[in-house]
Amino acid sequence: MFSHILVTGGAGFIGSNFVRTVLRTQPDVFVVNLDLLTYAGSLENLKELPSPDRYEFTKGDICDQALVEDILRRYKIDAVVHFAAESHVDRSILGPAAFVHTNILGTFSLLEAVRKVWLGERKADAGTVRYHHISTDEVFGSLTADAPAFEENTPYSPNSPYAASKASSDHLVRAYAHTYGLPITLTNCSNNYGPYQFPEKLIPLMILNALEGKPLPIYGDGKQIRDWLYVEDHCEAIWQVLQSGQTGESYNVGGNNQPTNLEIVDAICDILDELKPASPYRPHAGLKKSVADRPGHDRRYAMNINKIGLELGWQPKYALKEGLLKTVRWYLEHGNWIQAIRKQKEYQSWLDKNYTERVESKK
Ligand code: NAD
Ligand code: DAU
Repeated sequence: MFSHILVTGGAGFIGSNFVRTVLRTQPDVFVVNLDLLTYAGSLENLKELPSPDRYEFTKGDICDQALVEDILRRYKIDAVVHFAAESHVDRSILGPAAFVHTNILGTFSLLEAVRKVWLGERKADAGTVRYHHISTDEVFGSLTADAPAFEENTPYSPNSPYAASKASSDHLVRAYAHTYGLPITLTNCSNNYGPYQFPEKLIPLMILNALEGKPLPIYGDGKQIRDWLYVEDHCEAIWQVLQSGQTGESYNVGGNNQPTNLEIVDAICDILDELKPASPYRPHAGLKKSVADRPGHDRRYAMNINKIGLELGWQPKYALKEGLLKTVRWYLEHGNWIQAIRKQKEYQSWLDKNYTERVESKK
């Protein structure tokens, strides 16, 4: 249905997996990827793409409205899938300004560009275009142990600067639909994991640290609960919503599981014990180290995914155990990718900034 898609943030973790999925599964779709290549984005994530003849990369900022307008016109873009964001909660605690800038002002700028080109210059096409917004379960806040899972109409209650900036961008998107009639869809997804995830996030950080015999930092008591989804499942959900979702609607996406962080880390350690029997760091679980908690740490997220299941027939394909095994294997088989990502100067300084102080404050 859509033939020319603009993906923002397509050099990041989920965006690059989405670009790959679309090129592999949709032979009639041309993908333009607009990414600023911040610390989180890398062309290493986009090597050996399937059908590169249907793909174009532009290095640029979503805040550059003129650039986005030019791309919309030049490629006759009929769908925008907006991933570009600052995405790490810990970074938002240490430096919230970038989150307000990219996630709120960047989304605003993108919305202004599509409003001008789609609803102004190309009015006749307004019924055949779509702006799809990628959001998170964190906009709903934190759940107590027995509370029911978040539904699409759960009131927003974001707790971190990251979550607040995403909630704010979601509200802008809804307002553009309501006020200007912009055809939108929105997905709120739980924690993703899988190939190409930057090793600042829990799962890749634990895999890489364990491989080198470094401490595995567990924030607080480690009993916080997340709803983990293998990234490929997320990409398929986004595609289905883009194709068949109702305009103006939002859909929850999640993995239907509720492990604690400690259970996730133990599962990774068990997989490594099995795949690396000669490792001097076996049993890897011995590397776990309790450190100071994240300020304002959300205790539990859980997603009710009935709506997307009933309306669009989407379900996660990967069970957590299978997805984790695939993920650990991927990191073991992609040493070059790991070396390239680690070489970034910024990565080491982030680890120093986040973890040195955290360990010290626990003493
Ligand atoms: P990521 O941090 O891996 O990638 C973000 C990408 O955006 C990077 O390639 C970066 O270079 C690019 N970017 C940042 N600022 C930009 C700008 N101003 N202009 C253009 N490009 C810019 O993020 P991710 O984990 O892939 O998340 C992608 C989206 O999905 C985000 O909107 C995030 O909020 C949302 N999300 C993530 C998860 C998760 O578990 N990772 C879950 C639910 C929703
Ligand atoms: O829920 C969706 C969100 O999931 C996305 O919107 C965010 O972009 C994404 O980063 C992720 O946020 P989290 O804060 O849940 O993910 P993170 O991997 O940073 O942390 C997962 C859990 O593990 C969380 O409870 C904090 C904990 N943690 C994390 C790190 C990095 C640790 O205990 N130790 C660590 O070193």
